[in-house]
Amino acid sequence: MEFYEVIGRRRTVRDFEKEEISPEVIERIIRAAFQAPTNDHMRDWHYIVIQDKGTVAKLLDIIPDGISDKDMEQLLIDWKLDDSEQQSMYRSAVPKQHKMLMDAAAVVIPLLKQKTDILHPDNLSHLNGFASIWCSIENIFLAATAEGYACTLRIPLGNEDKYAKDVLGFPDDYFMPCFIGIGKPKKGEPTVKQKDIDLRERIHWDKW
Ligand SMILES: Cc1cc2nc3c(=O)[nH]c(=O)nc-3n(C[C@H](O)[C@H](O)[C@H](O)COP(=O)(O)O)c2cc1C
Repeated sequence: MEFYEVIGRRRTVRDFEKEEISPEVIERIIRAAFQAPTNDHMRDWHYIVIQDKGTVAKLLDIIPDGISDKDMEQLLIDWKLDDSEQQSMYRSAVPKQHKMLMDAAAVVIPLLKQKTDILHPDNLSHLNGFASIWCSIENIFLAATAEGYACTLRIPLGNEDKYAKDVLGFPDDYFMPCFIGIGKPKKGEPTVKQKDIDLRERIHWDKW
């Protein structure tokens, strides 16, 4: 697939076919992750790849499976989400948080070695490790797209990350930025529309 086609085709998918993914494809995708830029040259990252459905179910046990209409409306108010397209995305995404990861062919947990308190950084450099692993996560999304798969993403809420550490047994000094699901996009299931961006309003040549 041509580079800009991969960029254009990458979408967050939350509905997957019941189809497996081979270890060879996963290895190619994670090799791409390790080719992302890194702040300290170390790429001190690990990726836990979970395909066993029993382990996935245990890992997701803490994530609510669905949401009532009333709670959904309250969430839009609490999170101050007032753009109508943004609301459509949340109305589509929030009820699927558990199912999208459960149905994915593989759940991948990226891990970075975090040397300082990530929630209380002293300066921007303390976030470099976090920024770097997000470069690698984007490489995962693009490589999965090029392989004919798609990804879904969840940021751990509450103590989901601590719970994941207990279930998966990763060391205390490793930090989990997100859950990633990889799978074949379900045929005929539309993705949420991306917001239209007018480049003329967003590129500032020479000066704002
Ligand atoms: C930092 C970050 C956090 C995100 N958190 C979630 C999440 O918790 N759950 C979810 O379903 N999608 C999550 N997403 C996916 C976004 O909803 C999605 O990227 C956005 O709506 C744009 O759609 P697109 O990826 O199809 O272009 C996240 C994306 C990013 C970059």
